[in-house]
Amino acid sequence: MDDTARLEVDGKSYDLPIIEGSEGERGVDIQNLRSETGLIALDPGYKNTGSCKSAITFIDGDQGILRYRGYPIEELAEKSTFLEVAYLLIHGELPTREVMDRWNHGIMRHTLLHEDLKRLFRAFPKDAHPMAVCAAVVSALSTFYPEDLNPADDAQVASSIERLIAKFPTITAYSLKHALGQPFIYPDNRLSYIENFLRLSFGNPCEAFEVDPVVVRAMDILLILHADHEQNCSTSTVRLVGSSKANIFACISAGISALWGPLHGGANQQVIEMLEEIAAEGLNARQFVDRAKDRDDTSRLMGFGHRVYRNYDPRANIIKKASADVLEKMGVNSKLLEIAVDLERIALEDDYFVTRRLYPNVDFYSGIIFDAIGIPVEAFTALFAMGRLPGWIAQWSELQGDGQAIGRPRQIYTGATVRPYVPMDKR
Ligand code: CMC
Repeated sequence: MDDTARLEVDGKSYDLPIIEGSEGERGVDIQNLRSETGLIALDPGYKNTGSCKSAITFIDGDQGILRYRGYPIEELAEKSTFLEVAYLLIHGELPTREVMDRWNHGIMRHTLLHEDLKRLFRAFPKDAHPMAVCAAVVSALSTFYPEDLNPADDAQVASSIERLIAKFPTITAYSLKHALGQPFIYPDNRLSYIENFLRLSFGNPCEAFEVDPVVVRAMDILLILHADHEQNCSTSTVRLVGSSKANIFACISAGISALWGPLHGGANQQVIEMLEEIAAEGLNARQFVDRAKDRDDTSRLMGFGHRVYRNYDPRANIIKKASADVLEKMGVNSKLLEIAVDLERIALEDDYFVTRRLYPNVDFYSGIIFDAIGIPVEAFTALFAMGRLPGWIAQWSELQGDGQAIGRPRQIYTGATVRPYVPMDKR
């Protein structure tokens, strides 16, 4: 196969190198396009633009394949744990038992929040969205660890990574407690990462807290499935902010804000709200699917469609099975799951969805499990962020290691050409 592409412009031809990845993906390297031809590449929404080379996550959207560091997502979801996957993503290899113990210990001893940082929660209204709280508090972590903010110092980065992974569940849980007006309880580092989060979210200082292993395993699977997804909107945000050499807390906070949007991680909240609306209005699945197809109606079938997958999102497949299993084990009879299954069946037979290759994505079924676990709808996206955190960190670290230049896209200017200033009394 050719290793250059030829571009012809204004009667001249230019050879552009073709780059090939380890899974045979090919791309045209246009880094010198402007200096050689005066042209830039225009691709709003980056629908066809690779922003980096990366060795972390592989997706084949046509075949519905997702692998972290080469390991199929199905195997990781079945056999691994979230903290092990976090290690894999960030460090590139599965840890030995000894390394895993050290990793686990390093994270679990950092779960506590500084008492002064806890006061920040009180400044928020009771109905503050957890994503706003998480973004603000994660950014504020940088003010408590000013000695660890240098992205070029490996030891500083390592301790910030432990702190971020350790404290994020505490921050999320406190955002829930603040909304309820309940006391913040201290983490218990003898518990596992997920048990600790569940106790911080649902426990109270007056009673012993029983952890349901079914819930723990379901959450483990959900966090693993969300842990990375290559250059999506929030990850690209983390990389872009990171390219300015901003500290890691600022970069992750920016990623949380990007994830919040309803077309990205915010879709999991929207899916449950959509299912609840269908149930409340007594609509049947067909009626809602028709609304989602109607150009004059703003409704979309939330949890359907994906920029990269033109096939079943493999994560949706795993979550669909897990949600049926979890609900059965918990003895929950979910009307919402019934509606979701119905919507999926009808959409997948509908010409509109078939021709556009729109399939359920990760958010379509995840909210049903979060809902059954008792997570409030507004906090669903914060759970997505908890899962995505190792991916953001891995991508941020890879970027720093690559020594990539600051991210700074160009544009094609379409505004007014030069014109003289008109004084106000002459306008
Ligand atoms: N319901 C109805 N129509 C849809 C949907 C949907 N969920 N998704 C896409 N379409 C239509 C869209 O109207 C367009 O039709 P046409 O060609 O006639 O104009 C066509 O399909 C292509 O859609 P697009 O918006 O150009 O595709 P995109 O790659 O820019 O957007 C997406 C991808 C995920 C933003 C979009 O599919 C969507 O809005 N889905 C619903 C929100 C959602 O579930 N987001 C979570 C994504 S997965 C997790 C994550 O990344 O956070």
